[in-house]
Amino acid sequence: MFTLCLMMLMIELQTDKIVKLPPPRLRSEISFEEALAKRRSIRSFRSTKLNWEELGQLLWAAQGITEKSEGLRTAPSAGALYPLEMYVILDEGVYQYQPRDHQLLRKLESNVRNALSRAALGQECVQRAPAVFAIAGVFERTARKYGERTARYVHLEAGHAAQNLLLQATALGLGAVPVGAFHDEQVEKVLKLPNGEKALYLIPVGRSAH
Ligand SMILES: Cc1cc2nc3c(=O)[nH]c(=O)nc-3n(C[C@H](O)[C@H](O)[C@H](O)COP(=O)(O)O)c2cc1C
Repeated sequence: MFTLCLMMLMIELQTDKIVKLPPPRLRSEISFEEALAKRRSIRSFRSTKLNWEELGQLLWAAQGITEKSEGLRTAPSAGALYPLEMYVILDEGVYQYQPRDHQLLRKLESNVRNALSRAALGQECVQRAPAVFAIAGVFERTARKYGERTARYVHLEAGHAAQNLLLQATALGLGAVPVGAFHDEQVEKVLKLPNGEKALYLIPVGRSAH
């Protein structure tokens, strides 16, 4: 078993599927209150790409580990069951965030931007943003403990993670918009989400065009 895991890990590393993200920083140019006051939905972006540091910081804000022994995160989670999965869609592919190692795992190597925008009713911000973050939910993780409260809890948690990401984008001088208007199944198909993982939110991020 150990050998098999090691071989799988080596294959992943050899195919350059893992991107180690720079450690998150804990200081900003602006105060928390300024970030709250400045946050605005931004829908048009310059084409400049985000760098790994910015991408890592945004993912950490949404779901980063802040307490190692129990794996507690930046956003609260009912029963600390962590039903959310974070993805980032770039021109070069679709990456999944792995909070424990603060790294990205490349899941798809194709550019799905146009298909994703079509799934989001053709919204231009989804097509044009240099990075689109997707929040997905694995309801089963929460359902084991919380039964009929599950849907409420998972949706609330997606809101926590999204707001963290939006405020972090503001603090980094980036623009972002939360997008809830999309066909769930179409987004899940485009991102090839595993069975049981539901698309909850899209958040295009970039440098504001204005
Ligand atoms: C749950 C939710 C879904 C949203 N969906 C979209 C969307 O699909 N497209 C979009 O352009 N903006 C979307 N927005 C952004 C709102 O239009 C925006 O927050 C609102 O106009 C207030 O502007 P502000 O965010 O700049 O304060 C959504 C916001 C929320 C909270």
